[in-house]
Amino acid sequence: MSARFVIEPLAKAHQRADFTCGNDRIDGYFRETVSQDVKRKYATCFVAREIATDRVAGFYTLSSSNVPLTDVPEPLATRLPRYPTVPAVLIGWLGRHRDYAGQGLGEALLFDAIKTVATAPIGAHAIFADAIDDQAAAFYAAFGFTPLVRRPRTLYLPVATALSLIS
Ligand SMILES: CC(C)(COP(=O)(O)OP(=O)(O)OC[C@H]1O[C@@H](n2cnc3c(N)ncnc32)[C@H](O)[C@@H]1OP(=O)(O)O)[C@@H](O)C(=O)NCCC(=O)NCCS
Repeated sequence: MSARFVIEPLAKAHQRADFTCGNDRIDGYFRETVSQDVKRKYATCFVAREIATDRVAGFYTLSSSNVPLTDVPEPLATRLPRYPTVPAVLIGWLGRHRDYAGQGLGEALLFDAIKTVATAPIGAHAIFADAIDDQAAAFYAAFGFTPLVRRPRTLYLPVATALSLIS
């Protein structure tokens, strides 16, 4: 991502009303619901803002969550403690405004999410994402995310592996 954009926590000043990433559910969530989730601390939300125009170019949300150990695919599950769940952070929503397609912004948002999770002072072994459709699943798979057992649209990556992507 160039210095054209800054990624920062969602604030009132961010104009959300015309956000269009190409998926109605994601657009509707970002326009109408995300601020309530942030207020209730169900999620944090980070926004990519184009510095020259102040336009919102993309966003992602993070929530604490966990993954049942039985859903973690082999060989990733092999060396994990036998606790019933794996502490993880969920990328609940991620979208990039369609005016900024193919400029590396989706990747920049994902890498920022990884950095945020890796540096948070809370244990999280993995990062995972609910892909809204097959294309979104392919996006995450391109970065090494693996589908969970019996949940092909939920993709999973250990934080240690994710960090090696961005360093
Ligand atoms: C998925 C999305 C975030 C990708 O954003 P983008 O800005 O177009 O992606 P980038 O330009 O950063 O692409 C980064 C890399 O991912 C790859 N990529 C992008 N979309 C992809 C897809 N659907 N499948 C496979 N790879 C994909 C690109 O080819 C690129 O790889 P390269 O550097 O080797 O060329 C964007 O298409 C989007 O907002 N879609 C609608 C909402 C959505 O699907 N969100 C996903 C979470 S539910």
